[in-house]
Amino acid sequence: MPNHFLHISDYSKNELIEILETAKTIKQKFRNREDYMPFKNRSLAMIFAKPSARTRVSFETGFEWMGGHALFLGPNDIGIGKREAIKDISRLISRYNDIVMARLFDHEHILELANYSSIPVVNGLTDYNHPCQIMTDLFTVWEHKNRFEDLKICYVGDGNNIVHSWLNLASKISINFVCICPEGFTPDQKTIELAKNGGCSKVDISHDPYAAIQNADVVYTDVWASMGQKEEAEEREEIFKPFQVNKELMTLAGDSALFMHCLPAERGREVTDGVMEADYSIVFDQAENRLHVQNAIMLVLSGL
Ligand code: CP
Ligand code: NVA
Repeated sequence: MPNHFLHISDYSKNELIEILETAKTIKQKFRNREDYMPFKNRSLAMIFAKPSARTRVSFETGFEWMGGHALFLGPNDIGIGKREAIKDISRLISRYNDIVMARLFDHEHILELANYSSIPVVNGLTDYNHPCQIMTDLFTVWEHKNRFEDLKICYVGDGNNIVHSWLNLASKISINFVCICPEGFTPDQKTIELAKNGGCSKVDISHDPYAAIQNADVVYTDVWASMGQKEEAEEREEIFKPFQVNKELMTLAGDSALFMHCLPAERGREVTDGVMEADYSIVFDQAENRLHVQNAIMLVLSGL
């Protein structure tokens, strides 16, 4: 097992399956409110350079349930890379804590944090990827479809950090992944190649939602302007309008299509209220499962 959780593609298929199996076991323990304290007397540092609801609440709740203490370090607390160099913060945190989870802007910064850290580093989102989210999404699909391989996953929207993690996953787990995005908003080319070179998945980029969505098992979307791009939101709205996930698109996707969104959603933009609230929407299962899958990741990284 790698020392850190930075990219899904750093793990073998068997290691990824081990995380899913562990999540399944501890989800049951959590639901039963069992006493389970593998992290007794341990601490987790949570560094956030960007806002968060799910990541903050799920890591803190999960780690404390497992007997540990979680420390929230918000955007105005330690000033990582601003008040103090990343490599210094990394070695400092390693002296006090047992695990560090960080949500940073620049992907290079999490690589540097990991490079200098003697404790496991978990990537809680960067501008490049969001591995905890997509491992959770895989787990959630598994729960709903009773399998996670050879499913058609249609992502509709911006070729962003969420897509990069799906592509990282596709390099290890067999899926049929289609990224349906406007021209000029395609994901990173090297990451597309990594997914294709994995040799187990079918990977396509399309600019036509109505043609590409048919027979989807999952229709997935995310905001059109990510954190750090919010000033572009209005300009992007015009470009992305034809890529809205609405009931018409879901009908075309077919009867077995589930709707997924990492959240937070901007209702009325990338997704309509009707789709968010429909029976096929599993967005809050996804949100809940963040807690269980991240707990599994932290256990596996800690060798527990
Ligand atoms: N999906 C997700 O990571 O949500 P937050 O930004 O609220 O943590
Ligand atoms: N792409 C979004 C994901 C939020 C969880 C962002 O980076 O803001």
